[in-house]
Amino acid sequence: MSVQTRIKRTTTPEIAARKGAEPIVCLTAYTTQVAKLIDSHVDLILVGDSLAMVLYGLDSTLGVTLDMMIAHGNAVMRGSSTSCVIVDMPFGTYQESKEVAFRNAARVMCETRCQGVKLEGGTEMAETVAFLTERGIPVLGHIGLTPQSVNQMGGFRAQGRSEEAARRIVADAHAIAEAGAFAMVIEGTMEPLAREITGDIPIPTIGIGASPQCDGQILVTEDVIGLFTEFTPKFVKRFGEMGQLVASAAEQYATEVKSRQFPGPEHCFGAPKRD
Ligand code: KIV
Repeated sequence: MSVQTRIKRTTTPEIAARKGAEPIVCLTAYTTQVAKLIDSHVDLILVGDSLAMVLYGLDSTLGVTLDMMIAHGNAVMRGSSTSCVIVDMPFGTYQESKEVAFRNAARVMCETRCQGVKLEGGTEMAETVAFLTERGIPVLGHIGLTPQSVNQMGGFRAQGRSEEAARRIVADAHAIAEAGAFAMVIEGTMEPLAREITGDIPIPTIGIGASPQCDGQILVTEDVIGLFTEFTPKFVKRFGEMGQLVASAAEQYATEVKSRQFPGPEHCFGAPKRD
């Protein structure tokens, strides 16, 4: 009888246990191929609703459906074997009630077999986070700049500038941690505030435009590799220039097609060799 070796994925309790330890490395992925390329380098892959802007050319993360997230979640699960995969809940699929949130999150969990879901919001979402986590659905929180509330925030702006706004974000962080989230993303938030929250709460904070003191960091992969250049927030560092590589490969391809250099005999079946 052969024994199959099963590579174990990083679990949400393992991510939670990394509080205060070595930084947790997170990136987004929406496709099988990108998931394959990043899987061995990260602890957590987020199938983010940022795919609305990055893949579908929309002007915000609104307009993403649950079916889209499930399709991309499946693609990422197929491309990864060791990372903890978390799928974003799209706008409108969890805010109405904790029961609706559970039904939709359960669909994501069952149909993708991912490790958990992410949802945006603070104190107002705490009851929902508790309802989900008490029923077996691990939740990654998301506070500070919450892109699904772009219309209410009046744009993508750093949060927590005033004393009152800062206190509200601190309260959000405590509420989501107490509700049972295994970790939380802090996005676009004043650095001293993100640092203070990281020191105060018992679960890992994953920063994006937050603080180097967060327990982990996340960026959108297409930002990191220079494939999405429409809009580059201050917190993005580009570690590669894939956009330029794609454009120059397309240019070279066009030149060779027009000059009949491509396809060569080596790309054809039964073609005579070139002189
Ligand atoms: O949708 C997303 O990709 C995100 C991350 C940027 C945190 O929420």
